[in-house]
Amino acid sequence: MTGDKITVHDIVSLKDTRKITMLTAYDYPFAMLVDKAGIDMILVGDSLANVVLGLDSTTKVGMPEMLHHAKAVSRAVTHALIVGDMPYDSYQTNPETSVENAKRFIEEASCDAVKLEWFQECIRVTKDIVTSGIPVMGHIGLTPQTADKLGGFKVQGKDAEAAQRLINQAISLEQAGCFAIVLECVPEKIAGMITKKLKIPTIGIGAGKECDGQVLVIHDLLGLFERFTPKFVKKYAHISSVISKALEEYKTDVCEGKFPTAEHSFSIKQDELDKIARP
Ligand code: KIV
Repeated sequence: MTGDKITVHDIVSLKDTRKITMLTAYDYPFAMLVDKAGIDMILVGDSLANVVLGLDSTTKVGMPEMLHHAKAVSRAVTHALIVGDMPYDSYQTNPETSVENAKRFIEEASCDAVKLEWFQECIRVTKDIVTSGIPVMGHIGLTPQTADKLGGFKVQGKDAEAAQRLINQAISLEQAGCFAIVLECVPEKIAGMITKKLKIPTIGIGAGKECDGQVLVIHDLLGLFERFTPKFVKKYAHISSVISKALEEYKTDVCEGKFPTAEHSFSIKQDELDKIARP
């Protein structure tokens, strides 16, 4: 790879060379840790809605929230490629506004690329954004923004007809100019077939090991989001219990007068103290 900052060209060149790593991040401290770990791409995902903002649907975040968090991520990152996830109402409700909104991720939030979920007019919108000079990552399979139209949060492409539809979507996204495609909740064999057919990398989440790379939501990986855990998540830590323990210790220390001690307090010289009139 050339230089320190990873480019879209670097990501495409990694196909068939080594596996590509991607994680979500939504704020400065997490983005800094992800970048420091040498992860190739950071997705400022609209999963922000669920894991940070406590909302029940990704369709409930819009451009203001996404840009606010993408800006914080960009301030921390020197290495990883930053992908801004376009929120539902920035391209699906009115495709005419998609190029303008994609530009805001690049110009205002210093992202390097945007991601779009599959929808009826996805190819036209992808072509428009790519033509405007902005790299686009596709997203097929389980697309949470339109999960209600897919029968809920379910594995996609489980019969031959549905699998063929996914293969066709992937090919049409590559032809429309995407530099990579997320495959979410797709049977491993179908993800493998798509990966072999495309020249651009596939990034799997619940799509098995044959994808060119993997992405996870960082709160899932760290055990920081306990409302539900999808089958495809591997928890590499249980940070919630570490945090809970620290908070309980803090509460006990304050209540029992064990914090703060002299070590955490500031002093004043006695002669200065003496100058203060006593009551
Ligand atoms: O928003 C998100 O976190 C995503 C990933 C699940 C790919 O789109």
